[in-house]
Amino acid sequence: MPIFLDSGKLNEIEKYLKMGIIRGVTTNPTILLKDGVTGGIAGIKNRSIEIAKMISPYPLSVEVTKTDKAAMITQAKDIAQWSENINIKITIHGPEGELENLEAIHELETKHDVRINATAMMSAQQCFLAAMAGATYVSIFGGRVNNMGYNSCGEIAKLRNVLDQFDLKSQIIVGSTREVLNVIEWLEAGAHIVTVMPDLLNAMLVHPYSKETVKMFLNDAKKVEEPPHL
Ligand code: E4P
Repeated sequence: MPIFLDSGKLNEIEKYLKMGIIRGVTTNPTILLKDGVTGGIAGIKNRSIEIAKMISPYPLSVEVTKTDKAAMITQAKDIAQWSENINIKITIHGPEGELENLEAIHELETKHDVRINATAMMSAQQCFLAAMAGATYVSIFGGRVNNMGYNSCGEIAKLRNVLDQFDLKSQIIVGSTREVLNVIEWLEAGAHIVTVMPDLLNAMLVHPYSKETVKMFLNDAKKVEEPPHL
């Protein structure tokens, strides 16, 4: 299912859903803030339920806002109840490299039957370990990898190889899109899914030369349709 939309905006999601070109949606607290969500966890819940309903049965990723293990597990289980098609984003570790996150990911997947999207990862090695822990999705931030001077395509290709080699079932989501060419290059490198910002999806679709060509067809169609001059 190659294209997800990286957005919390209902009108954008509806627009691309109607075109039949997205198969899921990802959010994070930064995206929700940018897309006008306020009101704490109640605000996140309302918007998430609206999105989940709109895109069902396609999946929606919603990120936990807690940082300690017990609180993350409790919140993840709660969020997972909001809708059947919601999976839970948990960052690979805490803000100072705390490793409880991976324990939470493992417990939620193996003991609580909650689907996890392990997120905020910048390398194949982080994603490989999250896959070992049982995450359903492993999200690598391709644009940020490139920003740091590393080769995102190389990381994605290595990751896909080791997942296949060890028959690990995690799906690779590549996020943090920055350029139109990212989508195809990351899919070609081995991503199962690229989650795309709405503006980039639009830029993938509309081409100046296609516009010019369509105008030519329409102008000539008018001429063909004109009654013959007697
Ligand atoms: C997707 O899962 C990520 O949260 C998102 O693409 C991050 O994008 P950014 O690097 O532009 O913040």
